[in-house]
Amino acid sequence: MKIKNKSFKDKSKKWLKRHVDDEFVQKSISDNYRSRAAYKLIEIIDKYKILDEAKNVIDLGSAPGSWCQVLKNRGKGLNSIIAIDILEMSEIKGITFYQTDFLSLEFEKISNIIGKFDLVLSDISPNLSGNKVSDFLLSRDLVENALSYSLQNLNADGHFIAKYFRSGDISDILTICKRNFYKVTSFKPKSSRKNSSEMYLVCLRKK
Ligand SMILES: C[S@@+](CC[C@H](N)C(=O)[O-])C[C@H]1O[C@@H](n2cnc3c(N)ncnc32)[C@H](O)[C@@H]1O
Repeated sequence: MKIKNKSFKDKSKKWLKRHVDDEFVQKSISDNYRSRAAYKLIEIIDKYKILDEAKNVIDLGSAPGSWCQVLKNRGKGLNSIIAIDILEMSEIKGITFYQTDFLSLEFEKISNIIGKFDLVLSDISPNLSGNKVSDFLLSRDLVENALSYSLQNLNADGHFIAKYFRSGDISDILTICKRNFYKVTSFKPKSSRKNSSEMYLVCLRKK
C-alpha cells in the first residue's frame, strides 16, 4: 500500500526509530522475550513479591506472551498458568491459553472450569484510538471487569495487578480495592514509557 500522507509517514518513521533505540526493546531481543512488556512484570514481581506464595496464576490480555514467559522463568513454584487473549498467541510450553474475549459469555463458561487463583494479572489494553477520553473509558471498563473477576476468583491473600490509564478518575475503583485488599497502591515501572499514562494498580492480599 502506498502511503501518501506525509505526516503519517513522518510519524511512523519517528515511532520506528524510537522503538529500535529503546533500551527495553533491545534487551527483550537479547533476553528472548516476545515484547518489552516483560520488564514491567519483572519490576512488579521484584518490588511486590507477588510470586512468593502463588500457585495458580491467570494472565488476562496475555498476547504476544512476554508476561507468560516471565511467569515461566520466575514462577518456579507455580502449578498452573492460564492465559487469555482475544488475539492468537503462539504456544508457550506449560501455559494453557484460551483465545477468547475476557468480557464474553464464552469466557464466563471457561471461568467455571478453570477454578480459583492466587494471582490475577491484567495487562489488558483496549485498541487505543488516540482519543484520550474514549481510550480512558474503555480501559476503565476493562479494569472494573478485571477487578470484579478477581473479587470472585481470587483465593484469600491472593493478589490482583491491573494496567490502567491515569488520564481520568478511578477513585471509585480504588475505594472498592481498599475495601477488599489489605494493601492497595499504584506503580509506574521504569520500563513503562514516560510519555504513556499507563500505570499499574497493585492490590495485595485479598481479604
Ligand atoms: C499490552 S497487550 C498485553 C501484553 C502482554 N502482557 C505481554 O507481555 O505480551 C494487551 C492485550 O490485551 C488484549 N485484549 C484487549 N481487550 C481484550 C479482551 N476484551 N479480552 C481479552 N484480551 C483483550 C489485546 O488483544 C492485547 O493482546
